[in-house]
Amino acid sequence: MTEAPSTRSADNLVEIRALTRSFSSRNQLFGKKRTMTAVNAVSLDVPRGKVTGVVGESGCGKSTLARLVLRLLEPSSGQVHFDGIDLTRQPASAMRPLRQRMQLVFQDPYSSIDPRYSIRTALLEPLRIQGLPLSEAEASRTVERLMAMTGLNPSLAPSYPHQLSGGQKQRVGIARALALQPAFLVLDEPTASLDVSIQAQIVGLLEKLRQGLGLTYLFISHDLGLVRYFCDRIVVMYLGRVVEVLPTPRTPPRHPYTRALMDSTFEPDPQRRRAITRLSGEIPDAFDLPRGCAYAARCPQSTDRCRAEHPPLVQDGDHALACHHPV
Ligand SMILES: Nc1ncnc2c1ncn2[C@@H]1O[C@H](COP(=O)(O)OP(=O)(O)O)[C@@H](O)[C@H]1O
Ligand SMILES: [Mg+2]
Repeated sequence: MTEAPSTRSADNLVEIRALTRSFSSRNQLFGKKRTMTAVNAVSLDVPRGKVTGVVGESGCGKSTLARLVLRLLEPSSGQVHFDGIDLTRQPASAMRPLRQRMQLVFQDPYSSIDPRYSIRTALLEPLRIQGLPLSEAEASRTVERLMAMTGLNPSLAPSYPHQLSGGQKQRVGIARALALQPAFLVLDEPTASLDVSIQAQIVGLLEKLRQGLGLTYLFISHDLGLVRYFCDRIVVMYLGRVVEVLPTPRTPPRHPYTRALMDSTFEPDPQRRRAITRLSGEIPDAFDLPRGCAYAARCPQSTDRCRAEHPPLVQDGDHALACHHPV
């Protein structure tokens, strides 16, 4: 067993190393400055052409990680290598051409798009921002192509977001992310606000696009069932840290937290869908984390050692685990 991952490989489109981001806030009562670490020494590989899943409960740092990976947010420390380039060392001017190659898809795609924009305007906006000149005819062809690719009827091009269903809006979000022909998509809970049957359609579309365009995905979700259904590898986060990496969706989880998460299940067939069961126990205060394992207070397996000693992430073959008493 060795410490988790340090080597680099051309098979990986993205390599994240010891990525850390802290936030400070002032305590309202005493005016004292407090710091919490939303993403804490996260290292992970994103292999080319594959879907790497990141899963964890709300507040564990998934969206912060997404923004750090695309350098929409500056890290406190650590690196992100994209296709061999250390993004964290690039000047802002070098980020613009790189941004074409990596895009973010949000849970609510229109939160980042002006509601007064028609679909056509929304889809052409990324090209306009990058300063790519298009004739009227080219623009129409581009819009038509992006809409057809994402299963939207091109006749909807003049429509506005309020005229669209949730699923259609997310298709626009995906089409917009594809406008600059990226190689890498970070998908931050892209189906979380959709009905289960629509979720399945969007996941099907993402899979088709990945195969057709040879895309690489970092797919973020709070739903381990969905991640197991869709992803090739699974990274489990708890309070800012990676606690387990499953090399395949069929690998049996060994961390008690991953086991507990397995109850939240994605089932495309609503008839067979199990209810999402909430994990029991309080999530500790991120501003005041315990000394040992952050999961100890909620863990049925925890011992004095867990409460005293932080478990490092240790690699065992392709499986990585941070637990003193794995199942
Ligand atoms: N800009 C910010 N300022 C202060 N705290 C933040 C900021 N962004 C995120 N956080 C905190 O970081 C933690 C992780 O948030 P987030 O990355 O959004 O988690 P997730 O996406 O997993 O729900 C949360 O406790 C959140 O309150
Ligand atoms: Mg989030």
